Amino acid sequence: MTARDIVEKYIAFFEKKGHRRIPNAPLVPQNDPTTLFTSSGMQPLVPYLLGEEHPMGKKLVNVQNCFRAQDIDEVGDNRHTTFFRMLGNWSLGAYFKEEQLHFFWEFLTKELGLSKERLYVSIFNGYKGVPKDVGSHKVWKDLGLQEDHIFFYGADKNWWSRAGTPEQMPIGEIGGPDSEVFYDFGVLLHDLRYGKEKECDPNCDCGRFLEIGNSVFMQYQKQEDGSLKELSQRNVDFGGGVERLIAATEDQQDIFQTDLFGSMAQTIELLTNKKYEGNKKEMRIITDHFIASVFIISQGIIPSNKEQGYILRRLIRRGLDHFDKLGGADLTPILEKIVEQYKDTDKVLTDKFEEIKNTILEEQQRYNQTLQTAKHFIFKKYSPRGEAGKVGDELKGVTEISADDAFILYTTHGLSPTQIKSLGFVFNNQEFAEKMKAHQNISRAGAKKKFAGGLADHSEKTIMGHTATHLLHQALRDVLGNHVFQTGSNITSERIRFDFNYEKALTPDEIKKVENIVNEKILENLPVHFEMLPLKKAKEIGAIGLFDGKYEEKVKIYFIGPSTSSGRPYSAEFCGGPHVSFTSEIKSFRIIKQENIGKGVRRIYSKVGE
Ligand code: ALA
Repeated sequence: MTARDIVEKYIAFFEKKGHRRIPNAPLVPQNDPTTLFTSSGMQPLVPYLLGEEHPMGKKLVNVQNCFRAQDIDEVGDNRHTTFFRMLGNWSLGAYFKEEQLHFFWEFLTKELGLSKERLYVSIFNGYKGVPKDVGSHKVWKDLGLQEDHIFFYGADKNWWSRAGTPEQMPIGEIGGPDSEVFYDFGVLLHDLRYGKEKECDPNCDCGRFLEIGNSVFMQYQKQEDGSLKELSQRNVDFGGGVERLIAATEDQQDIFQTDLFGSMAQTIELLTNKKYEGNKKEMRIITDHFIASVFIISQGIIPSNKEQGYILRRLIRRGLDHFDKLGGADLTPILEKIVEQYKDTDKVLTDKFEEIKNTILEEQQRYNQTLQTAKHFIFKKYSPRGEAGKVGDELKGVTEISADDAFILYTTHGLSPTQIKSLGFVFNNQEFAEKMKAHQNISRAGAKKKFAGGLADHSEKTIMGHTATHLLHQALRDVLGNHVFQTGSNITSERIRFDFNYEKALTPDEIKKVENIVNEKILENLPVHFEMLPLKKAKEIGAIGLFDGKYEEKVKIYFIGPSTSSGRPYSAEFCGGPHVSFTSEIKSFRIIKQENIGKGVRRIYSKVGE
């Protein structure tokens, strides 16, 4: 069964059960200050899980491209990837545990034909105010599961929220107990790794069990006092990785050897003249990291030292390190293979192939230069001839460098400890680790701050900022012309970042004009409201926004000013919300900076509510 077969079967199955298909959200989310990448299918659905009406109804299904940067260090085993495709189905307050577990069981055993004997499940064991999930236990028993295929775990394993356990959830974040299904590849795998003495269970890391689906009963929201409150509706949020389901249908314990990835490994074998057996870890990392890079670049991201660009740089460079280690040089055949594997479902990869390829090859060159500069830096300091020496001269045995210098190579030149060592330099590991720790504490504090202002951030300031971006978008079109459209945005409680297509820098006069228009609209105290409109109608009235309307018949349009039925609104834009009710709530608007971010795209930073 190919990836495409599984996706098609899944969508058709849930459509038959009354679900409507929703589009794949962008891998790099728009209007979401909280996260760099879409990491699960539920992410764009948070407002609807909280109770807002979804234009497609209460039962939804899709397949979502996901990226999880936090899994980067796990890649290399038989099952982890950073990029994956998640099958998802949702009940927005419609059905609950019984229907969900029946649906998934039927899909696994009838549609995919998996043997019941190979399936195990896990259930939430209870935590503080949330009771043990006896409901799911009963459903699994009714479906015929033997008690020895059912396992109970605590909140560390069977609770799902974007932030992790209930303790880790920020205020306002939603989550709930979950029930996971595992495929069993056989006890031998465990015994080979740990021997018969150590017990095995579905959460053992021996590779015997593979999690193939997770039904989250999304039912709670974290409160200010730390407690969990029931949401107004009981939702189901299901996610299952396509890559892993293929592995189960093929009974292939190594996902990198399945129909989807196997040919990638073969390409790498040819390019490096090495065998997969004996070089598995490296080849898995190369496969995963370049697939993820290709998809991220297809979203318009380029390698840099910040945010998505930084993650992309790390993926490419890490992939290159392993490729170099195996003796590979020409990356192009790998990139071509990736596009071949995904072109049926992701046509954008074919359309943008040249751009994707050039971005990766340019980064390869830049990385080579960085390595040269790093060597030069060390050489100048350690060569007996000092500054007078030339790069390329021997370091005459001087390969031990100070932890301080290793740390400079890390922070200034962006080289990881492994990369520094692979250049032939050794240093005091412990001293280096201490410096790293101090450095990480500082970055973690920064990350935490971002996170706290982040997840499910529906704070007053970000909502004000969100409505202001609609005004800004329209004002830019008023001043610069209607060909201008938004290409991205990111809103925090501190500032608004707004990207749009425009070839030149704005003049001070144009900036003033845009600011004035937005402030005028704020003073006019225009009402803000949304309407669900048929896609055709939305286009007719000239609503702006990216209509990825392949499956949607009705879209949510936010109006600023009266709606079309009662006069002309100032702005009509496709959007999920939330927004202020009246523009005066934004108080004020000021542009603080503009930047050129390349390829005809400009970036504006602004502030509201001062
Ligand atoms: N949102 C759940 C997950 O990502 C289904 O596992």
